[in-house]
Formats: sequence, C-alpha cells, structure tokens
Amino acid sequence: MSTQKAGTALVTGATAGLGAAYAEELAARGHNLLLVARDQARLESAAAGLAERSGVEVSMLSADLATPQGVRCVEDRLAADPSIDMLVNNAGSAVFDPLSEADPDRLEWLITLNLTSATRLATAAAKAFRGRGSGTIVNISSALALNILPVGAVYGGTKAYVIAFTQALAQEFAGSRVRVQVVVPGALETAIWNGSGVERDQLPSEVVMAPLDAARAGLAGLDAGELVTIPSLPEYAKWEGYENARQELIPGLSLAHPAERYAR
Ligand SMILES: NC(=O)c1ccc[n+]([C@@H]2O[C@H](COP(=O)([O-])OP(=O)(O)OC[C@H]3O[C@@H](n4cnc5c(N)ncnc54)[C@H](OP(=O)(O)O)[C@@H]3O)[C@@H](O)[C@H]2O)c1
Repeated sequence: MSTQKAGTALVTGATAGLGAAYAEELAARGHNLLLVARDQARLESAAAGLAERSGVEVSMLSADLATPQGVRCVEDRLAADPSIDMLVNNAGSAVFDPLSEADPDRLEWLITLNLTSATRLATAAAKAFRGRGSGTIVNISSALALNILPVGAVYGGTKAYVIAFTQALAQEFAGSRVRVQVVVPGALETAIWNGSGVERDQLPSEVVMAPLDAARAGLAGLDAGELVTIPSLPEYAKWEGYENARQELIPGLSLAHPAERYAR
C-alpha cells in the first residue's frame, strides 16, 4: 500500500479540506509530513493531531503562497531538505464571479495562488527530485478544468493549466524515477465555497465528495501509475477517449497552409 519509500511529503494547504485529507492519508501510509499553510495556530493544531494519531514526524512552515516571499521560502525548503520526496501541490482558492462583475485584483490573486505558486513549487520539486534521482509531484486540478462554466473563466482556466502543465512535466520525466500526477476532483465538501460566489448549499449532495474519499482515490490512482486521476469518473475509458481525440488533432494542428474550408 505504500506510494514509494516513505520519506517526507510536503503538502501545501494542509490544514483544511483536501490538503488535510492528503496529510491524514500520507501519515497513515508512514510518510513524515511538512505542512504548509498561512495560519500558524491551525498549522500547530493540525501537526499535533497528525503526530498523535499516526506517530510520524510532522513539521510545519507558515507561508502565504500568494506572495513571492511565501513561495520562495517553500522553494528553498524543497531545494535544501533531502528528506522531502513528495510534493502535494494542493493549496488553492476559488473565485466564481462572472468576469464582467469580477474584481481584477482578486482574479490576479487567484492566478498567483493557483497557478504561479503551483508552477514555482513544482519547478523547485522537479529540480530537487531530478538531483535526488526520485520523487513524486502531485498537482491538484479540478473538474472545472473540463466542465467549462461561465463563472469559471479564471478558476477553470488555472485548473486547465494544471492539467496541461502536468502532462508536459510527465513527458519531461518519462522513463525516470520522478513520478508526476494530476488529480482532477469534482466538487468537495470543503470551505472553499465560502465567499467564492457559489455557496456549497447551491450544489446537490450527489455531486459533492468527502475530501478524504478524494485523497484516497488520488493516492490509489498514484499507486496504479495513473498520470491523470479523476476520482469520481466511473469509466476511465471516457478520459482515455478524450485524450485519444486530442492526440488525433495533433497532425493537423500545425501545417504550412490553411485548411480548405478557409480558402477564398
Ligand atoms: N473544494 C472543491 O470543491 C475542490 C474541487 C476541485 C479541486 N479543488 C482544489 O483542491 C485544492 C484544495 O481545496 P480545498 O477545497 O481543500 O480548500 P480549503 O478547504 O479552502 O483549504 C485551503 C487550504 O489551503 C490553505 N491556503 C489557502 N490560501 C493559502 C495561501 N495563500 N497560502 C498558503 N496556504 C493557503 C488554507 O490554510 P490557510 O488559510 O491557513 O492558509 C487551507 O489549509 C485547491 O487547489 C482547489 O482548487 C477543490
């Protein structure tokens, strides 16, 4: 049941929701943990609970990943601490305002957190794990990357980036002992909805998963060697069909002449 040799897993956004569920599951698998989030009191309480329940070593780093200083401090730790063999790039937020009504500063903050920080941390992990010869990078996307909705222009866009980014990273590390995975959860029972523009009670319960179930499915997908794990998708062949259709487009995507239908 182990994901790899159990070193230290660095989990961002580890004090609530999906990140806390990953921390719980990874501790149960024997990983030591490095928890990252902003709120020091919540970090201390999460670390104490995890250490007591699982007996693993739990350390913490308070960092605001929407700021350059916060990201740099986690990048430095990834580079300097050889015990870290897994990054769960999970911290993120949501803004579901229609673009025509949105505050652009809030959207920029969302892009910085969901996209810039995730990119920089995966880059730091990629460098560190290549140097150490192995490691695992788990990036958290969202079903809204694929289910394109009017209020998801920016949130869904950041999460679509996470899928494409991870697929490219997987090609870069093909044949190596650095594993890469993107997890694409649907709606989860977490606090992310509060103040996002869509409240949790607007969603029917049958489309909302418990974060622990999503983390367990994500890790089961990792164990199975999946690059893309969609926790709730009943038939994996549907994702494979979607990917195959994308591959079939490739020979026609860059040619010297416009397609016949655009000829005057
Ligand atoms: N919930 C869903 O329906 C859903 C669905 C698909 C994908 N996802 C993705 O899953 C991931 C986790 O979402 P969640 O629903 O579990 O979120 P959540 O319940 O709101 O928890 C967010 C976690 O991230 C930390 N965090 C927030 N902003 C941060 C910042 N600027 N710097 C560092 N840490 C920060 C929070 O702690 P502090 O506040 O102390 O910093 C907390 O630990 C996100 O990437 C989200 O996009 C969520």
